[in-house]
Order: sequence, then C-alpha cells, then structure tokens
Amino acid sequence: MADLQKFIDELRAKVSIVDVVGAKVKLVRKGREYQACCPFHNEKTPSFTVNEAKGFYHCFGCGAHGDIVKFEMEANGLPFLDALKKLADKAGMEMPKLSHEKHVQAEERKTLYEIMEMAVQYFERCLRLPEGRHGLEYFYNRGFGDDILKKFRLGYAPANNGLKAWLASKGVSEHEMIELGLAAMSSREGSNRVFDFFRDRVIIPIFDKANRPIAFGGRVMNDGQPKYLNSPETPIFNKRHVLYNLNNARDKGYEAKNIIVCEGYMDVIALSKYGFEYAVAPLGTALTEDQIAEAWKVCNEPTLCFDGDGAGIRAAIRSVDRALPILKPGYSLKYVFLPDKQDPDEFLKDKGRDAFAEYLNETTPLVDLLWKKNTENVPQSTPEQKALIEKNIFDEVAKITNEQVRGYYHQAMKERVYNELGRGAWRQSYARKRPFDKSGVKKDGVYPSGVKLEVVRPKTSLDELVVKFILSAMIFYPELVAEYEEKMSMFAMPNPQLQKLFEAMAEVYAARGEEEGFDSAGMREALSASGFGKDLAALWELKMFCLQKPLQNTLRHEIETKMLEVQVRQLDAEIKEYMNKLANSDHFSEEEYQYYQNLKKERQALIDSGSAVD
Ligand code: UTP
Ligand code: MN
Repeated sequence: MADLQKFIDELRAKVSIVDVVGAKVKLVRKGREYQACCPFHNEKTPSFTVNEAKGFYHCFGCGAHGDIVKFEMEANGLPFLDALKKLADKAGMEMPKLSHEKHVQAEERKTLYEIMEMAVQYFERCLRLPEGRHGLEYFYNRGFGDDILKKFRLGYAPANNGLKAWLASKGVSEHEMIELGLAAMSSREGSNRVFDFFRDRVIIPIFDKANRPIAFGGRVMNDGQPKYLNSPETPIFNKRHVLYNLNNARDKGYEAKNIIVCEGYMDVIALSKYGFEYAVAPLGTALTEDQIAEAWKVCNEPTLCFDGDGAGIRAAIRSVDRALPILKPGYSLKYVFLPDKQDPDEFLKDKGRDAFAEYLNETTPLVDLLWKKNTENVPQSTPEQKALIEKNIFDEVAKITNEQVRGYYHQAMKERVYNELGRGAWRQSYARKRPFDKSGVKKDGVYPSGVKLEVVRPKTSLDELVVKFILSAMIFYPELVAEYEEKMSMFAMPNPQLQKLFEAMAEVYAARGEEEGFDSAGMREALSASGFGKDLAALWELKMFCLQKPLQNTLRHEIETKMLEVQVRQLDAEIKEYMNKLANSDHFSEEEYQYYQNLKKERQALIDSGSAVD
C-alpha cells in the first residue's frame, strides 16, 4: 500500500490536474484557481474549481471533490487501476507490480466521506462507553434525550487518540486523517507526533446537503477554552458555504415555508426538540452571502433569530450589510429579536414553544432594520446631522444591485426621511397610519388587508357637521373619546373652537374617565364648568342623542363610516388630480407614479377596512 501511495503521489506531482480536468471541461482561470461548470451536476453558473497547486478539484455546488485519480474514475468512469494506468502513460511512468492482495486493497480505497462517516460512528459509539459517560450526561443535562442524540448523531471524542488508532486499523493513512482535520501534527519543533484533533469534547457532526459528514464541532463540558472547536477547512469543508442542519431543515422548511437561521448548533438542536425542525446555523462566523443564498433556496424570507442585546443587534446589522447587495425581487430576510439576552435554546427552556412561535410571528422586515441601523442612537437634531443620516442611508441603498429592489428601497427610505426627519415640502404632513384593525386592536400602519402604507400628505379636513356628530357621540358615550382620540388627531379640525372643545373633552376624560360612575352627565358638567356650556348647547346632535338614546355600537359604526367617507372622498380627489397630471405630462418621476399607485392602494385598503367594520 505504501508503494502504491508513493506511486500516486508521484503521479500527482507529474501530471497537471488542470490538464486532466481541462480535457473534459472548459476551464477559465480565476486568480489562483480555475473554474468551470461542474461535470458532476447540472448547473448554469460555475461552482466547480480546480486548484493546480493543491492538486485537487472541488465543487461548491454538489461537494464533488478529488485528485487526478478520482477525476479519471468519476468523470471518465474508469476503474481505479485503469485510471492509474492512463495517468501513468501520460506521465511516462511504469505501473508498479501489485500483488493480488494489494489489488483488492486498491479497489477498496475509501473516499474522504467514507472516512468521515467512520469517524461519526466512532464518536457515537464512544458516547455509550464508560469513558464517554460524562459526555452522555452533559447532553442529558442539557435536555437532549436519546432521540435527539440519534437524530443529530451526537457523540463523544475521548482524549486518548482513540480515533487515530481506530482509523489506522481500517487502513486510513495519517495523511488522510490530517487532510480531513481529524488528526493534527504536533506543533512542537522537531516533533512529528500526530494526535487526535478533538480530545475530551462532546461532538456535533456537521453534514452537507447530501447528508454526508464533512466536519465536526466539539464542545468542552466545562468552562475551558475554546468553548467550541470546529474542524479546520478541509477539501470537503468550507465553513463559509455550509449551514449546519440544512440536510434536515431543507424539507421541513419547504413545508413550513420558513427557515430559521440562528447563531449556534445547540440552538438548532434545541429548536428541533421543540418542534421547529427547520432551523439552521452558520458555523461560528457571521452569515455569508453564500449561506443567505442557500437559505433562499428553501424559502423567500428566511427568519434570522438573534438575542435583543447589543451583540445580537450588531450581528443582525452585519447580515443587513451582507444581504443588501444580493437582494432580488421577492427575496428578503426578516428578523426576530429574543428578549432578556436569551438565545433560542435558553428562551425555549425558559418560556416554551408557544412563546417562541409568537416571536416568530412578530418579525421585523429588513427594510426596517436598515432604517434603525442608521437612525437609532444617532444624533438627529441639527440639519447637518439629519443630512448625514440621509446620505448614509442612500449610500446603503445604492449597494442594492437589483434595480427594482433598489427602486423600492429608495422610495421607502425617502418616505421615512420625509416623515421622520421632517425633510422636504411635505414638512407639515404626517405618516398616515390606520390605528385599528377590525377587532379594534391598535396596529400601527398595517391595514387589515395587510397592505403596509405610509403615504405622506396634508391632513384631511373633516367637515363641520361630521365633527359635531363625532364630538356629540363622544360626549354621550365618553368611552368613545379614548377609542377615537388617536384617530381624530389624523384629521384637521374645521375650526379652532371645535378643536378646543375636543381637547377639553380629552382632558376631562383623561382625568376622570376611570372614575366609578363617570358618564355623559359627568362629562357635560365638567365641560360646562370649563366654559364650554355654550358650545354644548349648540350641539344639535347631542340633544338628539339624549332623546333617542342610540346604542353605543350604532354610534361607533356611524363614526367609522363618516371618517371613512371623508378619507375616501379626499383620496378620490387626489387620485383624480394625479391622473390628470400623469395624463397631461409626458414626463413624471418614478416617485410621482409610485405615489399615485400608493394612493390607489390606500383607497382600496380603506374600502376593505370599511367592509370589515360592518
Ligand atoms: P455561543 O457562544 O453563542 O454558544 O456560540 P451557544 O450556541 O449558546 O452554545 P452553548 O449553549 O453555550 O453550548 C455560537 C456559535 O459560535 C461558534 C459555534 O458555532 C457556536 O455554535 N463558536 C462559539 C465557536 O466556533 N467557537 C467558540 O469558542 C464559541
Ligand atoms: Mn446557548
């Protein structure tokens, strides 16, 4: 075997892998490597690379990997010895004479994946041996039972170089062990001692999408450092491309139309235990573009989960930076921030499955995070400070390469700059928000139809009759003050006297609304006492209500309908104005057009919300 290995090493030194692979596929030079579309799987953009210096090829798409010999075997379908013969001819070398036994051994050469699989099994077995007892107990104490241990194939690495001995007994060379990161050479000068890479750690094997073991994570069971040790980069493991547990999460994620990306493998395992089987994690690095692309293959809007403290938010922001350049229509990221500095593992233990599910439903979209990133805790009182925020935001938007997505981000950020930094001609205006959904629960900015709009425009004026009706209803049923106060502030009052009356009502209600027995009479007395007696006497509707005693719900419905009518009428007028503008000019900006579209959407959403009131 040793002779054969020497012969192969010589072949590798003499025969260029670029020649061998280049005879089969067209290679293009990219820096130190060559690239091609992978001959082992179907693809349109090249993820197959050939490295002349290292003498191997590797496909980041399907994981195909090997040297010249393996390429001849797998791409050209040659048996091992025929592959050697072909390469030997090319190098002008004599084939070595092999005994029958060596022939057989040669045919049984293990692939790197098979060696990794042997290691997985070894670690699993050790977890059940007396020497692995404290490893098993560690997992049990974390709440991982036998089903979880089996599903994730968790294991234990003893401190006695047992793996090296076991693999050697199966014919694996030290060279291969080192190449796979299972063993390491002692760094002490002059020492050639090779020892197990993982020693006295619990082991979490890492699989690729095809369910092949490619690396390991090992955790200490005490406070030792480093807490986690990961396999080094190897021919089959590039941690920037891999998401832990994608092999399991892929199918579950398709079903759930979601994938949760959290920070650590223990979180992924804990999530699975609580029924969220579509979770993945990067391997100790910030999320990379390749990993985002992988997650997008499962669903359009992966959910990134962080703890809500400083480090979590910083990590979230880093992912925004990564994602912006590669956003494309329909694909984004959304964020969950867990409270109390907890990671998913701790949160689930502490608060349970349902609480986590609730957080999953309350996500923050990427666009919000981009705004927060640039405005939260950033001084914004002077014009210069505001201008800096605006500049920074638009510099970031410019990093979005997709034109459509960039256009909408530009629009969204412009609206916020207008609304929240008070920039531009619409300074007097406000962010239009519908404060109630059909159940009467406050929902900022979200219409029941799910359309999220923040159209900027001067306040709609309520006409005098409508205002008198609403104020009368509020005096008759003071609870309605609380219910509609916020909504009223979205409208402009037709005259200052009615505005004053409304403010006085709000004050009275704030002071006395909670009092036992406070009612319409109390409200009227208080208002009269503050000098609004004459105004009350002029409210004809109020007199009617006192006579007719309408039901509170009837009045509520009337108020909603009247407000809606005013808003729709106002929108209709504006839509008409824009239609004229668009029809009569041969040029209008994208923003104007977008604004017009938003008006129409808002009108529809209003009407939809109106039918929800019924
Ligand atoms: P954390 O330090 O957040 O650990 O690391 P954790 O996931 O909460 O783990 P437990 O609950 O303490 O066991 C998150 C991830 O960062 C990487 C690992 O991939 C880990 O899953 N990491 C962390 C390392 O690679 N090395 C370390 O020393 C620490
Ligand atoms: Mn943890």
